[in-house]
Amino acid sequence: MPHRAYVIDEMISAKSIAARIEALASEIKTAFTGTEKLIVVGLLRGSFVFIADLVRELDMNVEVDFLEASSYGEAMESSREVRILKDLRGEIGGKDVLVVEDIVDTGFTLKHVVGLLMSRNPRRLETIALLDKPSRREVDIKASWTGFEIPDAFVVGYGIDFAQRNRNLPYIGKVRFTDDEPG
Ligand code: IMP
Repeated sequence: MPHRAYVIDEMISAKSIAARIEALASEIKTAFTGTEKLIVVGLLRGSFVFIADLVRELDMNVEVDFLEASSYGEAMESSREVRILKDLRGEIGGKDVLVVEDIVDTGFTLKHVVGLLMSRNPRRLETIALLDKPSRREVDIKASWTGFEIPDAFVVGYGIDFAQRNRNLPYIGKVRFTDDEPG
């Protein structure tokens, strides 16, 4: 699969992403008014660019932590079984937490992570996803904030990969296969 030929068609420009993040950060600051410290939890690896840009727009006291859940691997389809590969370094009990996800697709990953973190009794837990593909949802979950709703397409860039490639694109693009292989 990774050897199939494809091109990337731009879907969301770097400029649009930056503008949207500025607006989202302002909503988050308002929602967390009075919060002493916000623990911002990035889901590895896809959220690393998003979290970097988002925290720099949040002029409040933030702490950054990371969690890694199993993802597609080399495939383009969700495994529906979520495993925690790397847990948080810090405790979140009694704290205000914002979970940062790149894409909510079937919803299995976010649902699992929220369930896990809620069991640790944070004071408050909210979620933000840069992208949402609502037409693909299989479990009932919606992020507190969403950057962009997109159609059912396989996307890359801005931290998001296809078999570990294209994470470094500054924009979000749609993968379009140019070979004749079925699938
Ligand atoms: P879910 O558990 O099906 O919601 O999948 C969420 C995860 O699948 C995301 O955090 C991404 O890592 C990955 N994913 C979903 N859609 C795409 C895509 O279009 N391109 C690359 N990765 C994706």
